[in-house]
Amino acid sequence: MIEHLNNLGISALAEVEQAEDLQALDVIRVKYLSKKGEISLLMGKLRDLPQEERPVFGQKVNETKALVEKALYDKKEVLENIELLKTLENEKIDVTLPGYQFYQGSIHPLSQVIEDVEDLFVGLGYEVAEGPELENDHYNFEMMNLAKDHPARAMQDSFYTDENMLLRTHTSPVQARTMLAKKGQPLRIICPGKVYRRDNDDPTHSHQFMQMEGLVIEKGLNFANLKDALLKMARHLFGPERGIRLRPSYFPFTEPSVEVDVSYIKKDGTIGYIEVLGAGQVHPNVLSMGGYDPEVYQGFAFGIGIERIAILKYNIDDIRHFYTNDLRFLAQFKGVGQ
Ligand code: DAH
Repeated sequence: MIEHLNNLGISALAEVEQAEDLQALDVIRVKYLSKKGEISLLMGKLRDLPQEERPVFGQKVNETKALVEKALYDKKEVLENIELLKTLENEKIDVTLPGYQFYQGSIHPLSQVIEDVEDLFVGLGYEVAEGPELENDHYNFEMMNLAKDHPARAMQDSFYTDENMLLRTHTSPVQARTMLAKKGQPLRIICPGKVYRRDNDDPTHSHQFMQMEGLVIEKGLNFANLKDALLKMARHLFGPERGIRLRPSYFPFTEPSVEVDVSYIKKDGTIGYIEVLGAGQVHPNVLSMGGYDPEVYQGFAFGIGIERIAILKYNIDDIRHFYTNDLRFLAQFKGVGQ
Protein backbone atom coordinates (compact mmCIF):
# COMPACT_ATOMS: atom_id res chain seq x y z
CA MET A 1 0.00 0.00 0.00
CA ILE A 2 2.79 2.36 0.96
CA GLU A 3 4.51 1.48 -2.24
CA HIS A 4 1.39 2.18 -4.25
CA LEU A 5 1.16 5.56 -2.52
CA ASN A 6 4.78 6.32 -3.32
CA ASN A 7 4.26 5.39 -6.95
CA LEU A 8 1.22 7.58 -7.19
CA GLY A 9 3.21 10.44 -5.70
CA ILE A 10 6.06 9.95 -8.14
CA SER A 11 3.85 9.74 -11.22
CA ALA A 12 1.81 12.75 -10.11
CA LEU A 13 4.94 14.84 -9.73
CA ALA A 14 6.24 13.66 -13.11
CA GLU A 15 2.98 14.54 -14.80
CA VAL A 16 3.00 17.97 -13.20
CA GLU A 17 6.52 18.45 -14.43
CA GLN A 18 5.46 17.67 -18.00
CA ALA A 19 2.20 19.62 -18.08
CA GLU A 20 2.26 22.22 -20.81
CA ASP A 21 -0.67 24.39 -19.98
CA LEU A 22 -3.12 25.27 -17.23
CA GLN A 23 -5.82 22.91 -18.50
CA ALA A 24 -3.43 19.97 -18.37
CA LEU A 25 -2.55 20.96 -14.81
CA ASP A 26 -6.18 20.95 -13.81
CA VAL A 27 -6.69 17.49 -15.28
CA ILE A 28 -3.82 16.24 -13.05
CA ARG A 29 -5.31 17.91 -9.98
CA VAL A 30 -8.65 16.21 -10.56
CA LYS A 31 -6.98 12.87 -11.28
CA TYR A 32 -5.04 12.74 -7.99
CA LEU A 33 -6.45 15.18 -5.48
CA SER A 34 -10.20 15.66 -6.07
CA LYS A 35 -12.61 13.79 -3.80
CA LYS A 36 -12.46 10.77 -6.06
CA GLY A 37 -8.84 11.37 -7.03
CA GLU A 38 -6.42 8.47 -6.75
CA ILE A 39 -4.53 9.78 -3.73
CA SER A 40 -7.69 10.86 -1.90
CA LEU A 41 -9.19 7.41 -2.43
CA LEU A 42 -6.29 5.87 -0.51
CA MET A 43 -7.56 7.57 2.65
CA GLY A 44 -10.67 5.43 2.33
CA LYS A 45 -8.51 2.36 2.42
CA LEU A 46 -7.16 3.18 5.88
CA ARG A 47 -9.64 0.84 7.52
CA ASP A 48 -8.24 -2.10 5.55
CA LEU A 49 -4.98 -1.64 7.43
CA PRO A 50 -4.14 -3.00 10.89
CA GLN A 51 -4.87 -0.45 13.60
CA GLU A 52 -1.25 0.35 14.39
CA GLU A 53 -0.28 1.13 10.80
CA ARG A 54 -3.13 3.54 10.22
CA PRO A 55 -1.62 6.75 11.73
CA VAL A 56 1.63 6.36 9.84
CA PHE A 57 -0.12 5.63 6.59
CA GLY A 58 -2.57 8.51 7.07
CA GLN A 59 0.28 10.87 7.65
CA LYS A 60 2.05 9.55 4.56
CA VAL A 61 -1.04 10.16 2.42
CA ASN A 62 -1.30 13.71 3.72
CA GLU A 63 2.37 14.34 3.06
CA THR A 64 2.09 13.05 -0.49
CA LYS A 65 -1.01 15.16 -1.03
CA ALA A 66 0.81 18.25 0.23
CA LEU A 67 3.76 17.52 -2.01
CA VAL A 68 1.62 17.19 -5.11
CA GLU A 69 -0.38 20.28 -4.14
CA LYS A 70 2.79 22.33 -3.82
CA ALA A 71 4.10 21.06 -7.16
CA LEU A 72 0.78 21.97 -8.81
CA TYR A 73 0.86 25.42 -7.25
CA ASP A 74 4.44 26.13 -8.33
CA LYS A 75 3.88 24.83 -11.82
CA LYS A 76 0.70 26.88 -12.11
CA GLU A 77 2.66 30.01 -11.35
CA VAL A 78 5.27 29.16 -13.99
CA LEU A 79 2.63 28.43 -16.63
CA GLU A 80 0.71 31.62 -15.81
CA ASN A 81 3.85 33.65 -16.29
CA ILE A 82 4.54 32.00 -19.63
CA GLU A 83 0.98 32.73 -20.75
CA LEU A 84 1.29 36.36 -19.67
CA LEU A 85 4.51 36.75 -21.61
CA LYS A 86 2.85 35.25 -24.68
CA THR A 87 -0.06 37.70 -24.43
CA LEU A 88 2.30 40.62 -24.03
CA GLU A 89 4.23 39.44 -27.05
CA ASN A 90 1.07 39.19 -29.19
CA GLU A 91 -0.40 42.51 -28.09
CA LYS A 92 2.78 44.45 -28.30
CA ILE A 93 2.29 48.11 -29.39
CA ASP A 94 4.94 49.50 -31.63
CA VAL A 95 5.09 53.11 -30.56
CA THR A 96 7.47 53.94 -33.38
CA LEU A 97 4.81 53.26 -36.07
CA PRO A 98 3.48 56.41 -37.73
CA GLY A 99 0.06 57.55 -36.39
CA TYR A 100 -3.18 57.89 -38.31
CA GLN A 101 -3.88 61.27 -39.79
CA PHE A 102 -7.25 62.80 -39.03
CA TYR A 103 -8.48 65.12 -41.71
CA GLN A 104 -10.11 68.24 -40.43
CA GLY A 105 -13.00 69.57 -42.48
CA SER A 106 -13.74 73.23 -42.93
CA ILE A 107 -16.85 75.33 -42.95
CA HIS A 108 -18.08 76.14 -46.45
CA PRO A 109 -17.21 79.73 -47.42
CA LEU A 110 -20.89 80.57 -47.99
CA SER A 111 -21.76 79.29 -44.52
CA GLN A 112 -18.91 81.34 -43.12
CA VAL A 113 -20.32 84.50 -44.68
CA ILE A 114 -23.81 83.71 -43.35
CA GLU A 115 -22.47 83.03 -39.85
CA ASP A 116 -20.43 86.19 -40.00
CA VAL A 117 -23.42 88.39 -40.93
CA GLU A 118 -25.61 86.59 -38.38
CA ASP A 119 -23.05 87.29 -35.66
CA LEU A 120 -23.24 91.00 -36.36
CA PHE A 121 -27.02 91.29 -36.53
CA VAL A 122 -27.82 88.95 -33.65
CA GLY A 123 -25.56 91.23 -31.61
CA LEU A 124 -27.73 94.15 -32.74
CA GLY A 125 -30.91 92.47 -31.49
CA TYR A 126 -32.10 90.81 -34.71
CA GLU A 127 -33.69 87.35 -34.78
CA VAL A 128 -32.85 84.77 -37.43
CA ALA A 129 -36.00 83.76 -39.34
CA GLU A 130 -36.51 81.08 -41.98
CA GLY A 131 -39.12 80.21 -44.56
CA PRO A 132 -39.87 77.46 -47.10
CA GLU A 133 -37.98 77.21 -50.37
CA LEU A 134 -41.06 75.98 -52.18
CA GLU A 135 -43.12 79.12 -51.78
CA ASN A 136 -46.56 80.40 -52.52
CA ASP A 137 -46.82 83.04 -55.27
CA HIS A 138 -48.79 85.08 -52.74
CA TYR A 139 -45.82 85.50 -50.36
CA ASN A 140 -43.07 85.52 -52.98
CA PHE A 141 -44.66 88.20 -55.15
CA GLU A 142 -48.04 89.60 -54.17
CA MET A 143 -47.27 90.46 -50.57
CA MET A 144 -44.01 91.99 -51.80
CA ASN A 145 -46.09 94.40 -53.89
CA LEU A 146 -45.62 92.50 -57.14
CA ALA A 147 -49.14 91.88 -58.40
CA LYS A 148 -49.79 89.12 -60.95
CA ASP A 149 -49.19 91.32 -63.97
CA HIS A 150 -46.33 93.36 -62.49
CA PRO A 151 -43.56 93.83 -65.10
CA ALA A 152 -40.81 93.45 -62.43
CA ARG A 153 -41.77 89.78 -62.14
CA ALA A 154 -39.90 89.23 -65.39
CA MET A 155 -36.60 89.96 -63.59
CA GLN A 156 -37.21 87.02 -61.30
CA ASP A 157 -38.42 84.24 -63.53
CA SER A 158 -38.64 81.02 -61.61
CA PHE A 159 -39.58 77.37 -61.50
CA TYR A 160 -43.29 76.80 -60.88
CA THR A 161 -44.62 73.46 -59.66
CA ASP A 162 -48.20 74.57 -60.31
CA GLU A 163 -50.00 77.85 -60.86
CA ASN A 164 -49.42 79.06 -57.30
CA MET A 165 -46.30 77.32 -56.06
CA LEU A 166 -42.76 78.15 -57.11
CA LEU A 167 -39.21 77.83 -55.90
CA ARG A 168 -38.81 81.19 -54.17
CA THR A 169 -36.91 83.76 -56.21
CA HIS A 170 -35.67 85.71 -53.20
CA THR A 171 -35.72 85.56 -49.39
CA SER A 172 -38.19 88.47 -49.29
CA PRO A 173 -41.27 86.23 -48.76
CA VAL A 174 -39.88 85.53 -45.27
CA GLN A 175 -40.56 89.24 -44.61
CA ALA A 176 -44.23 88.71 -45.39
CA ARG A 177 -44.48 85.52 -43.35
CA THR A 178 -42.78 87.08 -40.33
CA MET A 179 -44.89 90.25 -40.43
CA LEU A 180 -48.08 88.16 -40.34
CA ALA A 181 -46.67 85.98 -37.56
CA LYS A 182 -45.72 89.01 -35.42
CA LYS A 183 -49.28 90.36 -35.67
CA GLY A 184 -48.38 94.03 -35.76
CA GLN A 185 -45.53 93.90 -33.20
CA PRO A 186 -42.20 95.61 -33.96
CA LEU A 187 -39.56 93.26 -35.35
CA ARG A 188 -35.94 92.89 -36.41
CA ILE A 189 -35.03 89.85 -38.46
CA ILE A 190 -32.48 88.48 -40.83
CA CYS A 191 -33.37 85.54 -43.06
CA PRO A 192 -30.64 83.54 -44.78
CA GLY A 193 -31.52 80.87 -47.33
CA LYS A 194 -31.44 79.40 -50.80
CA VAL A 195 -33.25 81.03 -53.69
CA TYR A 196 -33.86 79.95 -57.29
CA ARG A 197 -34.10 81.69 -60.64
CA ARG A 198 -34.39 80.55 -64.18
CA ASP A 199 -31.51 82.01 -66.11
CA ASN A 200 -30.79 81.05 -69.70
CA ASP A 201 -28.53 83.90 -70.63
CA ASP A 202 -25.34 83.48 -68.72
CA PRO A 203 -23.58 80.17 -68.05
CA THR A 204 -21.69 81.64 -65.10
CA HIS A 205 -25.00 82.35 -63.32
CA SER A 206 -26.38 79.69 -61.09
CA HIS A 207 -30.05 78.67 -61.04
CA GLN A 208 -29.70 78.41 -57.29
CA PHE A 209 -27.89 80.80 -54.99
CA MET A 210 -28.15 82.24 -51.50
CA GLN A 211 -29.48 85.44 -50.06
CA MET A 212 -29.87 87.04 -46.68
CA GLU A 213 -32.80 89.33 -46.12
CA GLY A 214 -32.93 91.96 -43.40
CA LEU A 215 -36.11 93.59 -42.11
CA VAL A 216 -36.74 96.02 -39.27
CA ILE A 217 -40.18 97.43 -38.42
CA GLU A 218 -40.46 99.93 -35.60
CA LYS A 219 -42.08 103.25 -34.82
CA GLY A 220 -40.11 106.29 -35.94
CA LEU A 221 -37.54 104.49 -38.14
CA ASN A 222 -35.96 106.63 -40.81
CA PHE A 223 -33.49 106.36 -43.65
CA ALA A 224 -30.52 107.19 -41.41
CA ASN A 225 -31.22 104.00 -39.40
CA LEU A 226 -30.97 101.99 -42.62
CA LYS A 227 -27.71 103.71 -43.57
CA ASP A 228 -26.30 102.97 -40.13
CA ALA A 229 -27.15 99.26 -40.40
CA LEU A 230 -25.65 99.06 -43.90
CA LEU A 231 -22.44 100.79 -42.90
CA LYS A 232 -22.04 98.52 -39.87
CA MET A 233 -22.50 95.50 -42.11
CA ALA A 234 -20.01 96.72 -44.74
CA ARG A 235 -17.36 97.38 -42.09
CA HIS A 236 -18.03 94.12 -40.27
CA LEU A 237 -17.61 92.15 -43.49
CA PHE A 238 -14.84 94.03 -45.26
CA GLY A 239 -12.97 96.05 -42.64
CA PRO A 240 -13.39 99.20 -40.51
CA GLU A 241 -11.89 101.52 -43.10
CA ARG A 242 -14.70 100.88 -45.63
CA GLY A 243 -17.31 103.40 -46.67
CA ILE A 244 -20.64 102.92 -48.47
CA ARG A 245 -22.33 104.76 -51.33
CA LEU A 246 -26.06 104.67 -51.96
CA ARG A 247 -27.49 105.01 -55.46
CA PRO A 248 -31.18 105.45 -56.20
CA SER A 249 -32.74 102.25 -57.50
CA TYR A 250 -36.07 100.52 -57.80
CA PHE A 251 -37.60 97.56 -55.98
CA PRO A 252 -41.37 97.12 -55.83
CA PHE A 253 -41.24 96.38 -52.07
CA THR A 254 -39.26 99.45 -50.97
CA GLU A 255 -39.69 103.18 -51.44
CA PRO A 256 -37.26 104.86 -51.71
CA SER A 257 -34.97 102.05 -52.90
CA VAL A 258 -31.20 102.07 -53.13
CA GLU A 259 -28.36 100.06 -54.52
CA VAL A 260 -25.52 99.88 -51.98
CA ASP A 261 -21.86 100.03 -53.03
CA VAL A 262 -18.89 99.40 -50.75
CA SER A 263 -15.65 101.32 -51.18
CA TYR A 264 -12.28 99.76 -51.90
CA ILE A 265 -8.83 101.05 -52.77
CA LYS A 266 -8.01 100.57 -56.45
CA LYS A 267 -4.58 99.50 -57.68
CA ASP A 268 -3.74 103.11 -58.58
CA GLY A 269 -4.57 104.22 -55.01
CA THR A 270 -7.88 105.94 -55.79
CA ILE A 271 -11.19 104.91 -54.22
CA GLY A 272 -13.57 102.71 -56.18
CA TYR A 273 -17.02 101.30 -55.37
CA ILE A 274 -18.48 97.83 -55.86
CA GLU A 275 -22.19 97.10 -55.75
CA VAL A 276 -23.02 94.63 -53.00
CA LEU A 277 -26.73 94.75 -52.18
CA GLY A 278 -30.17 96.28 -52.54
CA ALA A 279 -32.12 98.04 -49.79
CA GLY A 280 -34.78 100.59 -49.00
CA GLN A 281 -37.57 101.73 -46.74
CA VAL A 282 -40.44 99.27 -46.67
CA HIS A 283 -43.18 100.26 -49.12
CA PRO A 284 -46.43 101.31 -47.38
CA ASN A 285 -48.34 98.65 -49.37
CA VAL A 286 -46.05 95.94 -48.01
CA LEU A 287 -46.52 97.23 -44.46
CA SER A 288 -50.30 97.28 -44.69
CA MET A 289 -50.51 93.86 -46.35
CA GLY A 290 -48.33 92.59 -43.47
CA GLY A 291 -50.71 94.02 -40.88
CA TYR A 292 -48.91 97.27 -39.97
CA ASP A 293 -50.37 100.77 -40.23
CA PRO A 294 -47.86 102.68 -42.42
CA GLU A 295 -48.91 105.89 -40.70
CA VAL A 296 -47.65 104.49 -37.39
CA TYR A 297 -44.88 102.03 -38.28
CA GLN A 298 -41.89 102.46 -40.56
CA GLY A 299 -39.57 99.78 -41.82
CA PHE A 300 -36.35 99.26 -43.68
CA ALA A 301 -35.13 96.21 -45.52
CA PHE A 302 -32.13 94.94 -47.38
CA GLY A 303 -31.26 91.91 -49.48
CA ILE A 304 -27.72 90.56 -49.73
CA GLY A 305 -26.38 88.05 -52.24
CA ILE A 306 -24.23 85.72 -50.15
CA GLU A 307 -22.15 84.47 -53.10
CA ARG A 308 -21.44 88.04 -54.13
CA ILE A 309 -20.14 88.91 -50.67
CA ALA A 310 -17.98 85.75 -50.59
CA ILE A 311 -16.61 86.48 -54.07
CA LEU A 312 -15.56 89.97 -53.02
CA LYS A 313 -14.31 88.99 -49.59
CA TYR A 314 -12.18 86.04 -50.72
CA ASN A 315 -11.39 87.22 -54.24
CA ILE A 316 -12.99 84.29 -56.07
CA ASP A 317 -13.20 84.31 -59.85
CA ASP A 318 -16.16 82.03 -60.59
CA ILE A 319 -19.42 81.46 -58.70
CA ARG A 320 -19.42 77.80 -59.74
CA HIS A 321 -16.53 77.06 -57.38
CA PHE A 322 -19.02 77.25 -54.53
CA TYR A 323 -21.04 74.30 -55.80
CA THR A 324 -18.58 71.87 -57.35
CA ASN A 325 -17.25 70.69 -53.97
CA ASP A 326 -13.67 70.56 -55.11
CA LEU A 327 -11.62 69.98 -51.96
CA ARG A 328 -8.70 71.97 -53.38
CA PHE A 329 -11.01 74.98 -53.34
CA LEU A 330 -12.83 74.27 -50.06
CA ALA A 331 -9.68 73.45 -48.06
CA GLN A 332 -8.48 77.01 -48.57
CA PHE A 333 -11.17 78.25 -46.22
CA LYS A 334 -9.98 76.45 -43.10
CA GLY A 335 -10.25 78.81 -40.23
CA VAL A 336 -11.19 81.80 -42.37
CA GLY A 337 -13.52 84.07 -40.47
CA GLN A 338 -13.44 81.93 -37.34
N1 DAH B 1 -35.31 90.74 -53.12
C1 DAH B 1 -34.35 91.49 -53.88
C2 DAH B 1 -33.73 90.62 -54.97
O1 DAH B 1 -33.73 89.44 -54.83
C3 DAH B 1 -33.23 91.98 -53.00
C4 DAH B 1 -33.70 93.04 -52.08
C5 DAH B 1 -33.60 94.37 -52.41
C6 DAH B 1 -34.30 92.71 -50.89
C7 DAH B 1 -34.04 95.37 -51.58
C8 DAH B 1 -34.75 93.71 -50.02
C9 DAH B 1 -34.62 95.03 -50.39
O2 DAH B 1 -35.30 93.45 -48.86
O3 DAH B 1 -35.05 96.01 -49.55
O4 DAH B 1 -33.27 91.15 -55.94
